[in-house]
Amino acid sequence: MPRTSNPRARTRPRARGIASRRQGQERSQSKGSEMAAAARGIGVAAALAVLAALAPAARGVDRAEFPPEFLFGAATSAYQIEGAYLEDGKGLCNWDVFTHTRPGAIRDGRNGDVADDHYHLYMGDLEILQSLGVNAYRFSIAWARILPRGRLGGVNADGVAFYNRLIDTLLQKGIQPFVTLNHFDMPRELEARYVGWLGAGIREEYAYFADVCFAAFGDRVKLWTTFNEPNLVTKFQYMLGGYPPDHCSPPFGNCNGGGNSLREPYVAAHNIIMSHAAAVRAYRDRYQAQQGGAVGIVVAMKWYEPLTNATEDVAAARRAQAFETEWFLDPIMLGGDYPRAMRELLGSNLPTFTPEEQELLRHGRADFIGLNHYTAVYAKDCIASPCDLGTYEGNALVLAVGERDGVKIGGDTALNGFYVVPEALEPAIMYINARYKDTPVYITENGFSQWSDTSREELINDMERVNYLQGYITYLARAIRNGANVRGYFVWTLLDNFEWTFGYSMRYGLYHVDFDTQERTPRKSARWYQGFLTGDGSPTDQDEAPQALRADS
Ligand code: FCB
Repeated sequence: MPRTSNPRARTRPRARGIASRRQGQERSQSKGSEMAAAARGIGVAAALAVLAALAPAARGVDRAEFPPEFLFGAATSAYQIEGAYLEDGKGLCNWDVFTHTRPGAIRDGRNGDVADDHYHLYMGDLEILQSLGVNAYRFSIAWARILPRGRLGGVNADGVAFYNRLIDTLLQKGIQPFVTLNHFDMPRELEARYVGWLGAGIREEYAYFADVCFAAFGDRVKLWTTFNEPNLVTKFQYMLGGYPPDHCSPPFGNCNGGGNSLREPYVAAHNIIMSHAAAVRAYRDRYQAQQGGAVGIVVAMKWYEPLTNATEDVAAARRAQAFETEWFLDPIMLGGDYPRAMRELLGSNLPTFTPEEQELLRHGRADFIGLNHYTAVYAKDCIASPCDLGTYEGNALVLAVGERDGVKIGGDTALNGFYVVPEALEPAIMYINARYKDTPVYITENGFSQWSDTSREELINDMERVNYLQGYITYLARAIRNGANVRGYFVWTLLDNFEWTFGYSMRYGLYHVDFDTQERTPRKSARWYQGFLTGDGSPTDQDEAPQALRADS
């Protein structure tokens, strides 16, 4: 079957999955509130049946349930949409080289050379973005467009000019830029020199890049995030393989790039955490007082429900979350150490923070936390019972499972192992709020995938995506009513795009993109989101054919 013929494409869905239950407290000061947050999570499974029974209309949610200053937007990333891969002085990035030299690693053998051609069509894209009624836009800056050869080459003025045009146009439209400095891409020269994030020299490179961006754009950009999903990307780069530089070793696989899955992900993560801290320190020391912005970090977060009530599975759910979000957030937000569950299982494979690093971390606390939340899964313990450990949660000795007693945790999406479980959003936010003492949270990604070979009718009249977004936003409103400190929400994504190892075979866009003509067509979900944001009618009831438009029209 073409859908599963690419082993990489199988690896990712099977491998991705996480959720949590607070147990075995490491930090007693927050124990009470975390347990309360966890207790709310116990209701998730029970609520599934109720939600499934509700008609979409019954789950309607109103913009007025959110504060007026709450950010609602859409998210994208540079490599996935920009194209123009060698234009105006841009240097090669890791994904340029990977997709060109290893087309077999991408499901459809394609690459991001052109993608959505957003580099040229950005004006039209920002118009369709504006038409949705959003007040924020999350995008990332291509490192190799700004510093084609890293710190030792010059700054590419044309690259800076592109993001200046983008930012200025957004502000003219009343849309706040929400900028990610690193979304999976880096200059190829640096990847070659440091093997990506493995060499400590990359910290200085990244800090320099961040500094250049703060200096160039910080007069207008007030919301920065240092990294997108470092907890996910390091696994696909150094543990499971699949993303450049494609390192892995048994039991996770045998990768082209070689590697050591038991050690490298943690070395890379350590360098990313310290790179984050260095960038935040630069912002605090040189820019924040004058520019008045904030810097955060975005992590991928699944919600884990224990598969059974057994103590082992409850502990597994807890452990899975420690290996997922807490891996990065504990050192960054709580100051200087990894979660105890990781230390216990990984021993000396997990780096330790030196006193100098701890000192820098004290200056590197993030102002806010971004959560990319798509799904929930059941967590099964793999300490007391045997499992396949070559998976996304294998390092935590946990297996993510989609069903309990033959009943799925939620509806399917195209991405295997990703289920529709909107109720899980609330305990996920509560958990993060409790553990990190009310640090503001943004939901920086949330979205629904379809296969490209779905019929055109279903691709455009994407009621499943409408239901997905409506469901998640409904539970977001509920979390806020219950006291969550959440400041914004971004749909992944504005436009269908290059979906990493899935190439163009998987679609998440509010707008359908014809990659032959670059025609953008609003889906029913775009109309729903617009209706929700502007209060304009009930778009899901509209029966007229969606209007196609070219991004440059
Ligand atoms: C997230 C990534 C984003 C996109 C979505 C579907 O892991 O941040 O680039 O691939 O998944």
